[in-house]
Amino acid sequence: MSERPDVVAALAGATRAANAAAGPEAALAELTRALPPLLGDREAHRPPGALKAGERQFSVCGVFLLTPDQYLDHIRKPKEPVKIPIIGSLNGVSSGGWIKYARLIEEAGADALELNMYFVPTDPDISGGQIEDMFAELVSDVKRTVSLPIAVKLSPFFTSIPHMAKRLAHAGADALVLFNRFYQPDFDLETLDVITRPELSTLQTPQALRLPLTWIAILYGRVRLDLALTSGVHCAEDALKAMMAGANVAMMASELILNGIDRLPVIRADMIRWMEEHEYASVAQMRGSMSQQAVAFPAAFERAHYMRAIMNLPQ
Ligand SMILES: Cc1cc2nc3c(=O)[nH]c(=O)nc-3n(C[C@H](O)[C@H](O)[C@H](O)COP(=O)(O)O)c2cc1C
Repeated sequence: MSERPDVVAALAGATRAANAAAGPEAALAELTRALPPLLGDREAHRPPGALKAGERQFSVCGVFLLTPDQYLDHIRKPKEPVKIPIIGSLNGVSSGGWIKYARLIEEAGADALELNMYFVPTDPDISGGQIEDMFAELVSDVKRTVSLPIAVKLSPFFTSIPHMAKRLAHAGADALVLFNRFYQPDFDLETLDVITRPELSTLQTPQALRLPLTWIAILYGRVRLDLALTSGVHCAEDALKAMMAGANVAMMASELILNGIDRLPVIRADMIRWMEEHEYASVAQMRGSMSQQAVAFPAAFERAHYMRAIMNLPQ
């Protein structure tokens, strides 16, 4: 991380975002859209039923905006003009698919790879332990195949996030991206349709930030992994909080969808202004300063703080 704040745009089309935000010194990364789930190589490397669940989930989606080949072009093309790190993002359903496309993404010139572990367990016969084994094995399989740094994007639905994080680090992950937001469908009562509109966070829904903020603050200093925060980052204050919790990177999706990529340079400038006013010389200086291990009252992150928290309800 440089002396100044960097912001990662977690969206396809972030090339323009990067151009808008990057000063010459900026090391903005582009996180490209996840490679469409790969229904090709289907050898068994997952708990029974996992593939079926994956196929069902993805066939409901039906439409992918890019084919795998178009996606690889999507990585290759912006490499030339923008001179920024490109992070490929991969969401697969089988070991063979993950490995094959991880290699292709590396060959296409990506600087790093995000494994987007978007898996909704619907089968009561698959245990949490089996799913954790599957994730750890996938990471070590991919790590053996490519030499790229690997980030794993996780959901918050683990019995022990620190234990999962430690296992992934042991399997070879270099970073975690916290958290994936599973799209929870709504119902239309008149048409009886299941509505699958993506949920956007807004500046008016600050609770979206709380979940990753909490877990990054807890993980910081406990696992040897870089940490990226995604969910509910809308302004400079949110990104500053992410850094103080212990994140190396703050990502934005909803804010850029709602208010355009021109928000990037504004937020970056606001962060720099805040840091100057508060006499921070670098992002590194603030990183982890509000993590659980650094704060005066570590129980603030745990149940012990509950009574104190409810006393702070508005009267
Ligand atoms: C329209 C849309 C498309 C998304 N596509 C992806 C994707 O392909 N891969 C991925 O890992 N996350 C994807 N996300 C999730 C975002 O990267 C991000 O984790 C999530 O939206 C929470 O951040 P936010 O509050 O800034 O929106 C998508 C989000 C939205 C709203």
